[in-house]
Amino acid sequence: MKKRVAAFCSHGGSNFAAIADAAARGEIPIEVAVMVHNNARAGAKQKAQARGIPTEWIPRKTFADETAYTQRLMQVLDRYGIDIVALAGFMQLVPSELLRRYEGKVTNIHPALLPLFGGRGFYGMKVHEAVFASGMKVSGPTVHLVDEQYDHGPILMQRAIAIDDCKCPEEIASLVLAEEHKIYPETLGLLAQGRFQVNGRRAFINVLS
Ligand code: GRF
Repeated sequence: MKKRVAAFCSHGGSNFAAIADAAARGEIPIEVAVMVHNNARAGAKQKAQARGIPTEWIPRKTFADETAYTQRLMQVLDRYGIDIVALAGFMQLVPSELLRRYEGKVTNIHPALLPLFGGRGFYGMKVHEAVFASGMKVSGPTVHLVDEQYDHGPILMQRAIAIDDCKCPEEIASLVLAEEHKIYPETLGLLAQGRFQVNGRRAFINVLS
């Protein structure tokens, strides 16, 4: 039985597209049922339309308060019968009530090896610029469960890639993004199969018997 996923995006949506395409190819047991965006000009919108995936524009600033915003998000998740919420370049904190209702089912991808280079202010190229300046020899994406702090919940998957040869932050960004497009669909596939066991901050992948 496929799990129904809502992708939440603010920008280009390349991760959303990678997830939707892996699902459409039958590589993972999910269906991307809706793409929610908070930015009218998000490139993710065109990518959703091209794939026949419904879109919902839900910008936080058009709601009087957090309660009204949360209600609208919940309504949409209910309408599409959503099991898993995958943040994919979503530049907005998710309401606590939604996190409680979808406990262990809201994921995010971050373009660095958390807990390094994460948290408020670490987004987009700022992450890769900081990694480049640090002199680190490896970087890579982290997929984690979402809690009420930026880039903080238990880590589900991480993949380190060598960046020794990178001459600028942009090169790191492109290597990491290519890896994001593999690791995010894989992680969602495992989550959909109930393969993660979370114990405090540690998540284990159960081996199939
Ligand atoms: C990715 O680098 C992701 O790690 C971060 O935001 C970026 C989104 O890119 N959270 P895209 O919109 O998926 O192309």
